[in-house]
Amino acid sequence: MAEILVIAAHPQLDHSHATRALMAAAARAASGADPARIAVRDLYALYPDYFIDTAAEQALLAEARLLVWLHPVHWYSMPPLLKLWLDEVFAYGWAYGQGGRALAGKDLWLAASTGGPEASYRPDGYNRYFFDAFLHPYEQTAALVGMRWLPPLVLHGAHRTDAEELAAHAEVFAQRLLSWPDWPELADLDTVEPCDVPADARPQD
Ligand SMILES: Cc1cc2nc3c(=O)[nH]c(=O)nc-3n(C[C@H](O)[C@H](O)[C@H](O)COP(=O)(O)O)c2cc1C
Repeated sequence: MAEILVIAAHPQLDHSHATRALMAAAARAASGADPARIAVRDLYALYPDYFIDTAAEQALLAEARLLVWLHPVHWYSMPPLLKLWLDEVFAYGWAYGQGGRALAGKDLWLAASTGGPEASYRPDGYNRYFFDAFLHPYEQTAALVGMRWLPPLVLHGAHRTDAEELAAHAEVFAQRLLSWPDWPELADLDTVEPCDVPADARPQD
């Protein structure tokens, strides 16, 4: 059980540069730290058949204080196995809704990469919106379950990043994991307002 849980999701890790480099940096940070500090889980390696062990994932999450999602941006969102993990692990009555407070007070941090360069994520670029606009579902997911949404670490234009830049970025990621929660910017973050789901919004069984 670790206080920092890195959930990494890349459907083709063999072809990855960015995610693989960050996973390796996180693993190095984990191996040099207290074993109870950082755990890195490769979701596609753990669940190649997409049968997620929800109870095991929830048990790890219950012990963690920081959840990190590490993934490439695919269609302005997360890869499908991570979406399934979210659907199943952030369950009604556990993560949200009646009696669902298991994640309240924890932090959620996204480390993502995009193919599009930063300039493409502008009103005059081919992605048309600032990248933040694509993160509203993430941010609201955190809010609904009472988690604090930390400023994401995003590597834009991952295809064009050379080895030196990628190594520097991965090192930032590792240092952030090791130094959490002592990040200067966290002091300025708002406290999480509860988003209570009314009892009559409960899904039908
Ligand atoms: C199916 C698929 C969908 C993608 N969708 C996007 C996207 O919506 N926006 C974007 O900027 N890049 C997109 N990309 C590019 C990836 O984000 C990019 O290749 C990745 O972040 C690089 O990281 P990696 O080296 O770990 O694979 C997509 C790539 C694939 C394979």
